[in-house]
Amino acid sequence: MTKTSSPESRAAVLREQLHLYNHQYYVLDQPSVPDVEYDRLFRELQDIEAQHPELRTPDSPTQRVGGEPLSAFKTVRHEIPMLSLDNVFSEQELRDFDRRVRSRLADQETFHYACEPKLDGIAASLLYVDGVLVRGATRGDGQQGEDITQNVRTVASIPLKLQGDDWPDELEVRGEIYLPRAGFEKINAQARQNDSKLFVNPRNAAAGSLRQLDSRITASRPLEMCCYSVALAEDQQQLFKSHSEGLQKLAQWGFLVSPLLNVVDDIEGCLDYYQSLLAQRDGLAYDIDGIVFKVNELSVQDTLGFVSRAPRWAIAHKFPAQEEITTLKEVEFQVGRTGAITPVAKLEPVFVGGVTVSNATLHNFDEVQRLGVMIGDDIIIRRAGDVIPQIVQVVEDRRPADARAIQIPEHCPVCESPLEKAPGEAVLRCTGGLICGAQRREGIKHFASRKAMDIDGLGDKLVDQLVDSGLIETIADLYSLTAPQLAGLERMGQKSADNLIAALNKSKDTTLPRFLFALGIREVGEATARNLALHFVSLENLMAADQEALLVVDDVGPIVASHIAAFFAVEHNRDVVAALVAAGIRWPEIKTGSDAQLLSGQTWVLTGNLEAMTRAEAKEKLQALGAKVAGSVSAKTDCVAAGSAAGSKLAKAQSLGIKTLDEEGLIAVLKEGGQL
Ligand code: IVH
Repeated sequence: MTKTSSPESRAAVLREQLHLYNHQYYVLDQPSVPDVEYDRLFRELQDIEAQHPELRTPDSPTQRVGGEPLSAFKTVRHEIPMLSLDNVFSEQELRDFDRRVRSRLADQETFHYACEPKLDGIAASLLYVDGVLVRGATRGDGQQGEDITQNVRTVASIPLKLQGDDWPDELEVRGEIYLPRAGFEKINAQARQNDSKLFVNPRNAAAGSLRQLDSRITASRPLEMCCYSVALAEDQQQLFKSHSEGLQKLAQWGFLVSPLLNVVDDIEGCLDYYQSLLAQRDGLAYDIDGIVFKVNELSVQDTLGFVSRAPRWAIAHKFPAQEEITTLKEVEFQVGRTGAITPVAKLEPVFVGGVTVSNATLHNFDEVQRLGVMIGDDIIIRRAGDVIPQIVQVVEDRRPADARAIQIPEHCPVCESPLEKAPGEAVLRCTGGLICGAQRREGIKHFASRKAMDIDGLGDKLVDQLVDSGLIETIADLYSLTAPQLAGLERMGQKSADNLIAALNKSKDTTLPRFLFALGIREVGEATARNLALHFVSLENLMAADQEALLVVDDVGPIVASHIAAFFAVEHNRDVVAALVAAGIRWPEIKTGSDAQLLSGQTWVLTGNLEAMTRAEAKEKLQALGAKVAGSVSAKTDCVAAGSAAGSKLAKAQSLGIKTLDEEGLIAVLKEGGQL
């Protein structure tokens, strides 16, 4: 591509390229050029448009950044009303729906069900004329919505221009605009920093982001749109005969459609799908509030038709709610491993997000203030994904007359030491250090945990028992426990006692990064522990390092360095470390020189089932060789190691031309690096 071509033709080429890269990045999740290249081309187009404003087209990728604020949204009339769905909440109701469908059809009329997640966002409609996005609208009351064209243009997964050439001249596509959970957390983290109001859930945040008159604000929110229907296309059934074929077409034209779509034969298939997605729900990147089942064949949909405002051929099977209302009965204060005091809400037990919840974290006292919550209040609790339940809002108009303010404690509830708040920190901490039984106890739990010393069978309850019975005070005491001592504990038989002793012995063979992480030094997570081990090579070197020497290590800033130095300056801590080493804790020597860094700077992805080791073990060994191990494949991946039954990650690596290895190949690399 020469840059000497006319501005007009160069702008057209840049638009095409940027559309393509955008689609690869946001819809296919398969970038083909580095971000800097995208940015360069984007700036080039911006420059051309600045010099020649007449070349700025509405479908230009530069229009995604948002434009001048509007004074109000225009009203849009939906040519074809945007309907809603009837809901069911149980297997029985779903079977009744299926029976109703079949009773309206002749016996010989066979059909399938398309199953897809019900995304919890905001319904939107997109209108394309001659392949170009000309209008975006909200659902509104189903007949009339608001014109949010400026805002939808900023959503990266919405094509501004369609791909291919078999789209109808006029096309209306519908779908859900939502905010993935990570984006929601990010926006709320920013709001927390600015002391502004938080969004209660991703759905409200998506709605708030779309209803902005200033589209530059919308552009700053990582919204996505997943499309689920074609509303208007002349001769629709010429283009495709079923809902699933329609979605395939949408994908070909550049839209994001659900990768979780499945077509099943009958209602039993629907029920299986429901269970399988319910099990996956917590692990998804976005909120879903149920499943939508649709008769797949368009001809059968036509026969069934509509009733009032919902189609007869589709139904939403709702999941248990992720938000519920309950009462805050009391607030207790928990002391963490590093002395941080967390206010914990004791709730009237409530079924939310599929489990019964009776505790929720209030994070810290800033959060208590921000929520304005009092004991006795009715509150809204949210439990979604793997996140611990959160109180998101107080129902203020239900506040009882005897509601009590939450008093900020001045002393540690466990050891009575004074509490302090470091300048600039939101967290209140116990100053008791290892005098504090709670900090010691949490430190032991951390030491035993899976990513630390991985002591099988030593769970939180058992640690509590061991500390309460006076058998242990420090982590080093664990290794002088005997089977008869353990067997004497409540709910502990001879066999469990023997097993725990065996697990303790097994844990003695560890790695230096794990050991450093297990010590529970403030701000030293797994990654920092690994960097420290690779840098200092031995425990002695690390213990002798001063602040200056620590600052040289990757990711170690002044605060982390001061925590590490402070930890090893305490005599008690040095004694505990010495006792652990004397008890026989050992790790393989860390090789220096080229071997240790065989994979430095590389990004690896592990997928499929490995036989010789677990994926976590393989990850640790790769990291010991300097590799970064990522969860998903992108253009930045250097190598994908795939065990048996590897699926989409392997396929993606192959399609991107990334190097792949089978388990044998992986083992060869680990051997070469001295890890096996
Ligand atoms: S189909 C005529 N499919 O649920 C059928 N809707 O109560 C129209 N929704 O307002 C909807 N995910 O915003 C359909 N996969 C999906 C959906 C979905 C979420 C929303 C949609 C609609 C509401 C219906």
